[in-house]
Amino acid sequence: MSAPNKSYDPVEVEALKPEEIERMRDEALAAFASAGDLDALREAKTAHMGDRSPLALANREIGALPPQAKAEAGKRVGQARGAVNKAFGSRTVELEAERDERVLVEEAVDVTLSYDRLPAGARHPLTTLMDRIADIFTAMGYEVAEGPEVEAEWFNFDALNFTPDHPARQMQDTFFVQGPEGTEGDESGVVLRTHTSPVQARSLLERKPPVYIVCPGRVYRTDELDATHTPVFHQVELLAVDEGLTMADLKGTMDHMVQELFGEGTTTRLRPHFFPFTEPSAEMDMQCYVCRGASVGNPDRPCRTCSSEGWIELGGCGMVNPKVLTACGVDPEKYSGFAFGFGIERMLMFRHNVEDMRDMVEGDVRFTRPFGSEI
Ligand code: DAH
Repeated sequence: MSAPNKSYDPVEVEALKPEEIERMRDEALAAFASAGDLDALREAKTAHMGDRSPLALANREIGALPPQAKAEAGKRVGQARGAVNKAFGSRTVELEAERDERVLVEEAVDVTLSYDRLPAGARHPLTTLMDRIADIFTAMGYEVAEGPEVEAEWFNFDALNFTPDHPARQMQDTFFVQGPEGTEGDESGVVLRTHTSPVQARSLLERKPPVYIVCPGRVYRTDELDATHTPVFHQVELLAVDEGLTMADLKGTMDHMVQELFGEGTTTRLRPHFFPFTEPSAEMDMQCYVCRGASVGNPDRPCRTCSSEGWIELGGCGMVNPKVLTACGVDPEKYSGFAFGFGIERMLMFRHNVEDMRDMVEGDVRFTRPFGSEI
């Protein structure tokens, strides 16, 4: 579109002939008219109005003309340049207006659209339930304690009075990260903690009694994932060590917890059991919060929550074994303590009628959404 940059001989005035100047002007006007956008117009400007454009070169040649020709040629070139300038100006205005209009359409924001179409995420109900339980205890003055998930076998078992040949130590229950034989100094390996109870030992070693701690956390066992088992699950551990604590304190504390979680009047009961780290030990059941026992022996009123047993098993508990206190540097003559540990997945199942544990680990929002976004 641009005219070739001829090199002009100063005496050759051909380039300043009226038809030549008109041609240069018309070419410039045509180039501006056909520029489709501001970028193209900028290129046309360089070609037809720049220092090396035909009209600029023609203008330079005026100086070489004889005086009588100068005025006329100057006027002709000046008028042509004026017309080119004007055409450029008006095409710029046109193209800018077009651009502004396009931007207004393309970048329009519909302020009437709803701003929250992205669904808000929610915390997993296991996390919410663990936090809620921890809150019940912190409100009573307990401290939240934590321990590592990759744990020394000593904390997971030995400190808790598991004998070396205790079946829970077997490979079929425990994920060993490092077997005892692989470690220096031999006797203790490294495991994925099988329960939150090692935090009892850690807390007693770190703190001086009185100790009141609650420990929510993740634990591991070599189970296959199915409707009622998962190799990774959650527990909450409770430990109180003080002067003069008894089984009655344990029971009162547990009654308080179940009432906070399941409503006023819910009671608990203890059944004798064995755990190496508590003595005496018990299993704790809570009264079924749905049928309150009315389904027992009553086929007309079956209860799905407790399988018509009237009670739901919660977890293990007992008075801290004096051997554990001693192993952790606490004088069992002066202090006594109670402990309690239970699974969160199980509690979520009976509290919310979740029938399959796999739903909790699959990450499907259709499972988590009905629990709402409790903070
Ligand atoms: N740690 C035990 C388990 O995972 C549960 C347990 C039993 C915890 C008795 C306790 C306790 O604190 O006192 O099976």
